[in-house]
Amino acid sequence: MKDLKARIEKLKRDFDKALSGVKDEKSLQEVRNIYLSRKRGAVKLLFEELKALKPEKRAQAGQLVNSLKKHVVAKVSRLKVKLAASKPGVRARKGDLTLPGVRGYWGAPHPVVLFQQKIENIFIAMGFSIEEGPEIETDYYNFEALNFPPHHPARDDWDTLYISDDLLLRTHTSPVQIRAMERRKPPIRIIVPGKVYRRETPDPTHLPMFYQVEGLAVDKGITFADLKGTLEHFLKTLFYEKLKIRFRPSFFPFTEPSAEVDIECLVCKGKNEQCRVCGGSGWKEILGSGMVDPQVLKNVNIDPEQYSGFAFGMGIERTAMFAYQIPDMRYFFENDLRFNRQFSIK
Ligand code: DAH
Repeated sequence: MKDLKARIEKLKRDFDKALSGVKDEKSLQEVRNIYLSRKRGAVKLLFEELKALKPEKRAQAGQLVNSLKKHVVAKVSRLKVKLAASKPGVRARKGDLTLPGVRGYWGAPHPVVLFQQKIENIFIAMGFSIEEGPEIETDYYNFEALNFPPHHPARDDWDTLYISDDLLLRTHTSPVQIRAMERRKPPIRIIVPGKVYRRETPDPTHLPMFYQVEGLAVDKGITFADLKGTLEHFLKTLFYEKLKIRFRPSFFPFTEPSAEVDIECLVCKGKNEQCRVCGGSGWKEILGSGMVDPQVLKNVNIDPEQYSGFAFGMGIERTAMFAYQIPDMRYFFENDLRFNRQFSIK
């Protein structure tokens, strides 16, 4: 038995040595066959020898031969995988190949774009179409045609970056009203989403660049009731059917009369005097609106005796912040995927 043990140890050593010289699958097979070939392999021959032993010795000897067999099988199969992986064209892979793959992040529309699309879809369903305009505007379109004369104090609220005396980054999407009315005759029903610019220092509720969506409807017989009905339907679809809405008199140079639209505070519903979102008032201002000023219609050669219209404008981030309880407007443009991914549709 001692003798058998020593022989097996030697066979293992010889095998290890032979294996260390193996460079390809063919020579691996050759080495394997010396030990495991069914007819003349070393393991087979050893098992043959065992037959001559007495039964009580045979079991123990069998274990020894088996340990050689296991030794060879394990090392051959390990080397086989290694050789296959290093074949040309097959990239060597580490780790457990049966695990599910790692999925890359393909990206998704930006939260502002998603919210803009939500708004667009509601108006498209009401028969509005989408219009765009330039972000670099002339003083005429941004101000003058909208009834802001050169030294009108309302201009102060819309300070922006000037490229020249006459060219500036648009402060609102309202100039596209003028461009649309110049280009086509009523009936007009458009909404205008897009970027606007103001001279602001970024803080939780202000940015020097943000998105607005403008709306304009011009036709014969349009009244304040149309403005009210359209905006009510829009806001109730965007938020929820039972949403409370109020119209508050206001002023814009390009609308007369003008109204600001407030909706009930989604957070406290007017029940918390210390509410941080609405300041305890129970209301949140959401957009500006009004009947298109007759002077504006005259500026684009539309007869205000025949036609009338309504217009409105709202900030997209501002409204999204309110809808999703986002506390800081700057989050939208910090490109932090932990923020952005919360809005993507998987
Ligand atoms: N342009 C305005 C702003 O940037 C918003 C606005 C108010 C647009 C009233 C309108 C309107 O069309 O009728 O604050």
